[in-house]
Amino acid sequence: MTVRAAAAADAAALEQLERTLFSAENYPLSRRAFYYHIRHSLLLIAQTDSGEMAGYILALLRRREPKLYSLGIAPAYRKMGIASLLMERMLSELASRGFMRCVLEVRCDNNAAIDLYRRFGFETVKTLEGFYKDGCNAYLMRH
Ligand SMILES: CC(C)(COP(=O)(O)OP(=O)(O)OC[C@H]1O[C@@H](n2cnc3c(N)ncnc32)[C@H](O)[C@@H]1OP(=O)(O)O)[C@@H](O)C(=O)NCCC(=O)NCCS
Repeated sequence: MTVRAAAAADAAALEQLERTLFSAENYPLSRRAFYYHIRHSLLLIAQTDSGEMAGYILALLRRREPKLYSLGIAPAYRKMGIASLLMERMLSELASRGFMRCVLEVRCDNNAAIDLYRRFGFETVKTLEGFYKDGCNAYLMRH
């Protein structure tokens, strides 16, 4: 498994992966949005030795503190430690740029993601009522 920065040529595959990860109520990113983030944000990809995209992680670089905006692993590659690998790489990349803190929003019913974020030191600081299109609340978590 290789972790690398995404390039413009990855946008189509990212969009395809995104459709398998997030339904409409969870604000999936469009191909256009991926092009934007490849240029302006920090987007890392986990790629298998055969070249398949196993997952990605995206952080928005904001002046005060970055936001971990999205993280997703293709269903066939889950529970193999790939999200953890991407989190490690992202947090160390952010630290190397001087960002020691980071925020994120996560669905309150997404136990897999909440567990993962807690392991990496994120704590819930607030509940955002009705954050998602289906009315589900979000937790605002901070590292
Ligand atoms: C959440 C997600 C990113 C986890 O990816 P992953 O590669 O399977 O995670 P890892 O293998 O690195 O697991 C790390 C830890 O996360 C937690 N975790 C992962 N999947 C879990 C599950 N199904 N149930 C409970 N905890 C889980 C566990 O603490 C796990 O540690 P363990 O394997 O020692 O139990 C993945 O399930 C996913 O892409 N889901 C759909 C998209 C999504 O919800 N993204 C996050 C919101 S933005």
